[in-house]
Amino acid sequence: MSRFLQDKNILLGLTGGIACYKSAELARLLVREGAEVFVLMSQAAQQFITPLTMQSLTGHAVATDLFALSHELQIGHIRLADMANAYVIAPATADVLAKLSSGQADDVVTTVALATRAPLLVAPSMNVNMFEHPLVQRNVERLRSAGYRVIPPGEGELACGWHGKGRLAEPAVLLAEVERAVTPQDLAGEKVLVTAGPTREFLDPVRFLTNRSSGKMGFALAAAAWRRGANVILVAGPVTLATPHGVERRDVVSAEDMFEAVKQEFPRATILLMCAAVADYRPAARQNRKIKKQKAAWSLALEPTVDILAAVTPHKEQQFVVGFAAETEQLEASAQGKLQQKGLDLVVANDVSQPGAGMEADFNAAILLDRFGGHLALPLMSKIDLAEAILDRVIELRKRVAGT
Ligand code: CTP
Repeated sequence: MSRFLQDKNILLGLTGGIACYKSAELARLLVREGAEVFVLMSQAAQQFITPLTMQSLTGHAVATDLFALSHELQIGHIRLADMANAYVIAPATADVLAKLSSGQADDVVTTVALATRAPLLVAPSMNVNMFEHPLVQRNVERLRSAGYRVIPPGEGELACGWHGKGRLAEPAVLLAEVERAVTPQDLAGEKVLVTAGPTREFLDPVRFLTNRSSGKMGFALAAAAWRRGANVILVAGPVTLATPHGVERRDVVSAEDMFEAVKQEFPRATILLMCAAVADYRPAARQNRKIKKQKAAWSLALEPTVDILAAVTPHKEQQFVVGFAAETEQLEASAQGKLQQKGLDLVVANDVSQPGAGMEADFNAAILLDRFGGHLALPLMSKIDLAEAILDRVIELRKRVAGT
């Protein structure tokens, strides 16, 4: 399993809000992902959760006081600031937003924020009226312009009884943001269009033709591209996966719907990752009523669907286009044919007859063939790792395209 935070030093600052209990969960997630987590707590935060809880979860002494002799001796606030790979303040109260945005440093949480050169993230959490107050909004904007990444609060029931925007972002969202903060942004400025999952081709209101695609590979690619700094649009067929944080998702059902979505987004994209397992055929006619059973044998007339890749690549300008070839025989020869016939820059070929790999599985192996004659064999690995390796190759080849 890929652990993007392996051996990273993550500072977690807590200020005084009821959402401190969610920070305990965040600390646990960060530790699980391999990070060394160092917690800093304001005086008010200690009213909501104890330093002992955070110390037990992280295995490191918690900084609560700028002038605490023992902590300064063991770690020290400047050493914390220097060793950090990222510093996330969650929950961030209105008070700490005001202090940070005016450069104040009157406790350990705010002092380390000024002293560190690591990426800074703040996750506000407060009553909806407080969050919407023009002065709080001004502070949020000031922090953004000073380079802070502000992770907006979610909307819903608030602990104070109000309903609205103010709830601390979920720990999983904060984790994804921290992972992004420590990842080189080598896809910054790119607009990546990813397709994922199967399509459904209905023959009547209750029956359809489809395939085994789970969408896992495409969703892993979308998450990885966002983590690496891209704007990502994910066109997804019917799958049961949660939308990766940061990714804009458009759900589609049929090959025709997917074609419409891709056609619309393609002109603005810089990279197309056509990972979906699009149906090649659909019923020639779709009945409005459920087809009734009959005694006699029955055959279904099919017609080809549009080949989305072949239809969009003639309009290719700046786009780098990646196709996927799922094969059960003559892997390389078939993939090579698709590379040429569909006008691709890169094709990711995988053998879907291998047990434990490919469709539905969490693992896959692939051979990457490109239009420069390159050949890269990637051994069996998790789809999360494979997504990273595919993007590495895309970046490498794009540099070559830019150089030609
Ligand atoms: N593809 C597409 N439109 C289709 C079918 C496939 O854009 N109607 C894309 C897939 O998303 C993939 C690539 O084409 O990126 C290759 O898909 P694959 O199913 O391996 O190949 P096909 O072209 O469908 O050929 P065959 O099924 O005969 O192997």
